[in-house]
Amino acid sequence: MKKVLNLILFLGFTFWCFAQDHVNSENRIANRHCLDCHGQRVYSFVNPDDGSTVRKLMPVDFRVDSALFYTGAHHIFKCVDCHVPEYDSFPHPNQLRFEPMYACLDCHGGDDTYAKYHFETIDEQFQKSVHSPETLNGFTCWNCHDPHSFRINQRTGESIANTIAYDNAVCMKCHFETGSEVMLLLANEKLKPMSVSHDWLPNQELHFRQVRCIECHAAMHDSLLVAHLVSPADSAVKQCKECHSRNTMLLSSWYRFQNIENRNKNGFVNGVLLNEAYVIGASRNEILNILSLILFGLTLGGILVHALFRLKMNKRKRHE
Ligand code: HEC
Ligand code: HEC
Ligand code: HEC
Ligand code: HEC
Ligand code: HEC
Ligand code: HEC
Ligand code: HEC
Repeated sequence: MKKVLNLILFLGFTFWCFAQDHVNSENRIANRHCLDCHGQRVYSFVNPDDGSTVRKLMPVDFRVDSALFYTGAHHIFKCVDCHVPEYDSFPHPNQLRFEPMYACLDCHGGDDTYAKYHFETIDEQFQKSVHSPETLNGFTCWNCHDPHSFRINQRTGESIANTIAYDNAVCMKCHFETGSEVMLLLANEKLKPMSVSHDWLPNQELHFRQVRCIECHAAMHDSLLVAHLVSPADSAVKQCKECHSRNTMLLSSWYRFQNIENRNKNGFVNGVLLNEAYVIGASRNEILNILSLILFGLTLGGILVHALFRLKMNKRKRHE
């Protein structure tokens, strides 16, 4: 009996895989036409007047990376599931520029399959955030969730390092040192360079590599895995002890990080705080803590001495 059941399961699974493959390969073939141009840096077309082949550069903003597309959350789609099929013709008809685009909630809103993501709550949080369309004309979820590459990491149990890198890259697409050109489209006012707005934070580069922007900039919500309420900068976390202490706030957000299997294997605190990244001051291990606090003191001491030295030099300069 068990054997028969196994056989049925096996056949069912094989069929399912086949069906999936079939859909995927059909879509891939359909997409190839679009990606022949949009997936390339140089595209070409035939001039209907004289039959010659014309080569042109594909503008950066119109490029779609096919490798990223097929590893993204929406890899199962054809381009023309989201875009109108009239894009098949080239040159694209002018009026297509005004094609209305789907919003996330058009597909995911009120759908039980996606209930665990709480799309409606995310939308509420987004509407209250500094990026809401009410504050920034034209800002949508797509500005952070690139339609052609976005994928999820935290929920799928990607390593903390990868998740931090991915999530921060989302913010840094616009907020890098000098600010991206997209800011010209969206911003009301010019922001300071990142190194200036974060000059109070030592080891900036390390912090941006080891801590997510949203850890300091977005308010958590009980039912959300990823905080979406990015608040004005003046309410961001600035106190070192929020993280560099025993009851570090990172515990509550990193707790959500760990997939259950990982958590059980290592015990949470050891798993996250000792194996993946060691946050100074946050360990349950006394010796490590004391050692790190000494290091921390030395670093702060160094900054203090440096500051005093600068002050003295300035005074001296003024006397001269
Ligand atoms: C022969 C090359 C070529 C092919 C094939 C092609 N495109 Fe394009 N597409 C372009 C170029 C060049 C632009 C930018 C200039 C323009 O809008 O015509 C563009 C622009 C676009 C835009 C942006 C329009 C805007 O102004 O916002 C979309 C969306 C688009 N294409 C989708 C598609 C889809 C979907 C397919 C496949 C069904 C496709 N394209 C096939 C060359 C191509
Ligand atoms: C899940 C829906 C979805 C799929 C699938 C999709 N797109 Fe898009 N695409 C969008 C959205 C939404 C925008 C507008 C993005 C924005 O406003 O920031 C867009 C914009 C574009 C643009 C204009 C440039 C830009 O980034 O604004 C091009 C070109 C394009 N898509 C090509 C493609 C091609 C080629 C494919 C297939 C390989 C494809 N799209 C598949 C949703 C999709
Ligand atoms: C045109 C409809 C459509 C739009 C628009 C759309 N999605 Fe999806 N999305 C889907 C479908 C269908 C799936 C399931 C894909 C699958 O089965 O692999 C999906 C899957 C997902 C997943 C789960 C991925 C996974 O690996 O399990 C997430 C998260 C997601 N979408 C987020 C978004 C976000 C965020 C937006 C807007 C920025 C958005 N979607 C816009 C239809 C859509
Ligand atoms: C300011 C940038 C930003 C904006 C705006 C934004 N998101 Fe996100 N979102 C992120 C980041 C970063 C992640 C984390 C991806 C990861 O590592 O899993 C994420 C994750 C998600 C997830 C997966 C959460 C989970 O539980 O696994 C969903 C669903 C989602 N966003 C939906 C939306 C929707 C819907 C909107 C618009 C109403 C939106 N997002 C607007 C940055 C943003
Ligand atoms: C598509 C570009 C874009 C992305 C992606 C983006 N932002 Fe922004 N952000 C902006 C713009 C534009 C402003 C508004 C500037 C202004 O005041 O006019 C802004 C404002 C802010 C502010 C408020 C500054 C203040 O004036 O108080 C913070 C904080 C912020 N963003 C953090 C983030 C974080 C964290 C992420 C990633 C989760 C992110 N942003 C992703 C474009 C972006
Ligand atoms: C350790 C906490 C922390 C981290 C990590 C952090 N920030 Fe900030 N950020 C702040 C604080 C606090 C301010 C406000 C500083 C002030 O007003 O003196 C700020 C200011 C800003 C501003 C406002 C700039 C302006 O001109 O007003 C933006 C935008 C911003 N951060 C984006 C980011 C992004 C993007 C990341 C991730 C790469 C990030 N921050 C990482 C705490 C942090
Ligand atoms: C949002 C959490 C958070 C905040 C707030 C924060 N840090 Fe950190 N800090 C970290 C993490 C995570 C690391 C990387 C892990 C580690 O090396 O401890 C780190 C690393 C450091 C290091 C580097 C240790 C080394 O190995 O070189 C120093 C020094 C430091 N932080 C000092 C500070 C100071 C001073 C403040 C306040 C002005 C501060 N941090 C605020 C999370 C934070």
